[in-house]
Amino acid sequence: MINMSNLNTELKEANIKGEEISTPNAKSKSKMAPKVVMRLENLSKHFGKFVAVDNINIEVYEGETIGLVGPNGAGKTTTIKMIAKLLRPTSGQILVLNKEGDLQPLNGKSKDLVKFGFLIDQPFFYDMTAYQILRYFARAQNYPKKKVNARIDELLKLFKLLDWKHHKVNTFSKGMRQKIGIIQSLLVDPQIIILDEPQTGLDPKARIEIRGTIRELQRQGKTIFVASHMLHEISEVCDKIALINNGKIIAFDTIENLEKNLKEKELNCQLLDPVPLEDLDAITHRLTEKLESYIDSHEHTEGKKHLKYNPEKQTFKIFYDGKRESRGEILELFLSEFKSTNKIISFTQPKTSKLEKIYLEMITEDAPRDGGG
Ligand SMILES: Nc1ncnc2c1ncn2[C@@H]1O[C@H](COP(=O)(O)OP(=O)(O)O)[C@@H](O)[C@H]1O
Ligand SMILES: [Mg+2]
Repeated sequence: MINMSNLNTELKEANIKGEEISTPNAKSKSKMAPKVVMRLENLSKHFGKFVAVDNINIEVYEGETIGLVGPNGAGKTTTIKMIAKLLRPTSGQILVLNKEGDLQPLNGKSKDLVKFGFLIDQPFFYDMTAYQILRYFARAQNYPKKKVNARIDELLKLFKLLDWKHHKVNTFSKGMRQKIGIIQSLLVDPQIIILDEPQTGLDPKARIEIRGTIRELQRQGKTIFVASHMLHEISEVCDKIALINNGKIIAFDTIENLEKNLKEKELNCQLLDPVPLEDLDAITHRLTEKLESYIDSHEHTEGKKHLKYNPEKQTFKIFYDGKRESRGEILELFLSEFKSTNKIISFTQPKTSKLEKIYLEMITEDAPRDGGG
């Protein structure tokens, strides 16, 4: 079982703090200051004594796609249900942009707020056609009767389902059904679209299609908030990821920054021949001294080894500051050390990103929480 307090420390060491709202992404570089369209502020939800959502803070800018990523039971759906007003927060609040351009608490007059579209539960009326289902949802959302047919056609066409308009949904693939669910969320042309696990239960091909759907929404300038337990599936289409576990946001940043900060500051230098045991101490001592200037200053802790030798793999593991230029110089150090006695056959950085690795540990080894619900 992964120790979450270790993980938190690790993330903190990497200068990522879930509670801090990060600076807006690349879009902020344009002249127009990006607008915050939704802010979750110290948001918590308790079920009895159980804390499902624990004081989370997330700020969403106009046009951004945010991925709320965490294992089952992390608190994603609970968060989304609070945004959808299906659950009332225990404490904290949700602020949403209103028509005057100000942030306003969600519990206020909602007709002044920007529109939301939700995909929370998959709405499948198997015995109805795509058209019948969408007309039903349009009516439920008070969509003007005269415009409803044109709107349904427009959306079916956009998602390449127009030929299926009068087919029963129980003949559809799971991916097509999920698209109907997404179309349903778009009927009233919302500015913010909230999708809960849009890829769950879909095969790889359908998951790719859903990513395409999300990209289409991005082209339309929508702000998207998507919950998923599949980091690699969703990270590709997100501007930022909020990692959630046990109800807490443990990291919130752009993928680029998360990857950069969590990047392995580790190198592996594999030798052709094993290092003779009697030479190992001297070599390690020499290399450690030379490595001194390539180690993060705050990592200079007493007794912490920055060089480890694995005799089975004939490999030195080097923990360094992660800088590109250091990497080149460290290689030169090793080349000169082993010039006359050995040969370097590989010099590599571990492939899996630390983010992916940490997340995989979270989802495979952390048992779902007992929420009693
Ligand atoms: N109505 C409820 N009553 C009690 N516990 C609940 C209720 N809804 C959700 N929970 C618990 O809260 C935790 C978070 O659930 P949820 O938000 O659905 O997680 P996720 O969507 O990330 O899988 C889970 O442990 C779940 O059992
Ligand atoms: Mg869920």
